[in-house]
Amino acid sequence: MNREIVLDIHGTSDFVREHELDALETQVLSAHEKLHRYEGPGREYLGWLGWPMHCGQEEMKQIVRVADWVRKKAEVFVVIGIGGSYLGSRSALELLGHSYYNEMPREKRGGPQIYFAGCNLSATNLGHLFDLIKDKEVVINVISKSGTTLEPALAFRFFRNMLENRFGKKYARERIIATTGEKGALRELARQEGYETFTVPGDIGGRYSVLTAVGLLPVAVAGIDITAIIAGARHGCKLYDEDRPAHNPAYRYAALRQLLYRKGKVVEILAAYEPSFNLFTEWWKQLFGESEGKDLKGIFPAGVNFTTDLHSLGQFIQDGYRNLFLTTLWLDKPPLDQDIPLLEEDVDGLNFLAGKTMHHVNDKACAGTIMAHSAGGVPNMKIIIPEMTPRYYGQLVYFFEKACAISGYLLGVNPFDQPGVEAYKNNMFSLLQNSD
Ligand code: PA5
Repeated sequence: MNREIVLDIHGTSDFVREHELDALETQVLSAHEKLHRYEGPGREYLGWLGWPMHCGQEEMKQIVRVADWVRKKAEVFVVIGIGGSYLGSRSALELLGHSYYNEMPREKRGGPQIYFAGCNLSATNLGHLFDLIKDKEVVINVISKSGTTLEPALAFRFFRNMLENRFGKKYARERIIATTGEKGALRELARQEGYETFTVPGDIGGRYSVLTAVGLLPVAVAGIDITAIIAGARHGCKLYDEDRPAHNPAYRYAALRQLLYRKGKVVEILAAYEPSFNLFTEWWKQLFGESEGKDLKGIFPAGVNFTTDLHSLGQFIQDGYRNLFLTTLWLDKPPLDQDIPLLEEDVDGLNFLAGKTMHHVNDKACAGTIMAHSAGGVPNMKIIIPEMTPRYYGQLVYFFEKACAISGYLLGVNPFDQPGVEAYKNNMFSLLQNSD
């Protein structure tokens, strides 16, 4: 039997008492009811809630078919998207793939190199990518639910232009895959040009869309088992459906965040001890940041990559302003481990570690850090993931999606809109329209 993802909350006991959690139970129950009865704010965006249970077999087959075609055809696959339209797939690729996937020989990868574009407005970044791929067989997946987001729309304009100029419209249209909403500019263009198209369901917001074609197509192109990802999410769906926080780790996590927030802990730092979690942390930051940071409220989601950042931000966490708490993502069994060699001359004095493994050292670094941060007044939780497989990835995604929804309702916000994002866009467009 598979081991479960575990939430260890011992590191909060000096800051939150059990009776405080009990007192919040009624509010958690009410948040659960609101969510599951589709009665809370943002109820029109709850498609993600039951998605793993009923995402269509036909669509899964289409994703696998198209991904197989891309794997054979392309030397380079470019995913164009921003926010929820790229963070999920990129996090899965980094967590489930080889750390140096793009640098590996083609025979080992079994598919194309995968690059991301359209997630910034940097001409340099775009130009450097063009340098890299200019003579290669390229297939593009442009992902934008709205079809109007400037960053991916501009990047797509460049790529489309490049493909069309190179070999004509027919050549380009055979190499462009669009993932977009039911209507909008990109949908219309895809229809006119006859692009292969996937639909982002109208009731699933960008940051909740990783388990749809938005996330799954790029992941399948890397040869990762997307059926197992959905199976893991489905398992999460059942597991995190329980309404009592004591029996539901996702709700317990949400409740503890809320109690810590009420005590002035307004920054949550997600810490992982494997660099392959970096993009997952970015995905998590978007999920919680866009969902909760509104109405002048919210926990600021930050991320650190340990042990690297113990040599930079570790100082602040240990010793700086006391308004933060830490959530550690711990991988019990990493994909690889390495025995530390015994050297004849013990110049570095590390022979006492010979025979132990790197992961053992990482484990002690994690335990030591948690002890130190606890002593420094930082509440902490630990989420233990048995190993990083597609199945656990799907379950972990669903864990955080569910926790985020409940957390948003406990905070009293609509976790499914992002009105604040419009402010910069409005200013940028009016400045662009009035510029020379
Ligand atoms: O969560 C969201 O909805 C946003 O962050 C979007 O994912 C992001 O703005 C990209 O939007 P779109 O897919 O419409 O280009």
